[in-house]
Amino acid sequence: MKLNTLKLNAGAFILFAGVMASCVGDPNSPGLEYMPDMYRSPSIEAYVDYAEVRGLFRPELVGDKVSLTPPAGTIPYYGTGDNVAIMMPYRFGAPIGADKTHGLYGTSQDSAGYANSAFDKNPIPYSEEAVKEGEKLYGLFCLHCHGKTGDGQGPTVANSAGKFPPPPAYNGPLKDLPAGTIFYSITYGRNMMGAHASQLNKEERWKIVHYVEKLQGKQQGAAAVTADSTATASAEPAVIPADVVAPH
Ligand code: HEC
Repeated sequence: MKLNTLKLNAGAFILFAGVMASCVGDPNSPGLEYMPDMYRSPSIEAYVDYAEVRGLFRPELVGDKVSLTPPAGTIPYYGTGDNVAIMMPYRFGAPIGADKTHGLYGTSQDSAGYANSAFDKNPIPYSEEAVKEGEKLYGLFCLHCHGKTGDGQGPTVANSAGKFPPPPAYNGPLKDLPAGTIFYSITYGRNMMGAHASQLNKEERWKIVHYVEKLQGKQQGAAAVTADSTATASAEPAVIPADVVAPH
């Protein structure tokens, strides 16, 4: 009796397995999906309209997207420790027309931003490590145009047979360019130089500023004396004082 039940069970199982395995003739098909979640993970899809996901239509979700527009006035928040203050959004807008000239669509524009940027101090205190890090990033993002010594004779310029005019030398026409303006120009670009805000975060850009200042021949460590390590907003120029002239 017991044996008979066992045989019956085994028989039923073999029959069941046979039915499951033999349903589909296509060798590329996974066969009958009796546990669909194992075949297709129900992952959250980014940027899809949830009203229709893989044939499942839910009219009540028409137009409902995963990536909703954040509430007005919210700002990106990232970084850790001291670095959070540094990572706060840059307070100066791009030059007027930067959407057309530098592809900075949706970036605020500010006709006085360039001149006012001169008041910003480097929030990263001067240190050998910061300069070293800046040098490394400079080698990756700037050297091909500006040259190893910042003389404006990078390989892109040297190999362009005069088509790409050399950027001014850091220790020449740009030797007095203030740290804040260097940061501004790295962020939004300047004329033929592209914007670098999307490739380099603020901390990285300020480290590069330390290195550019070294190439300018500015006194090493001078930045540390005036550095405000809490925020970039150390000096508050609401309007440009009469004696401040934009370097360009
Ligand atoms: C595609 C080549 C190119 C790259 C890459 C490039 N620059 Fe420039 N840069 C230029 C040119 C050309 C100018 C001159 C712009 C002008 O004044 O017309 C310039 C100007 C500058 C200035 C002076 C801006 C001012 O306010 O007058 C600074 C500072 C500078 N670059 C720093 C950098 C740093 C730092 C990097 C790397 C993050 C970099 N550049 C990457 C081509 C480049």
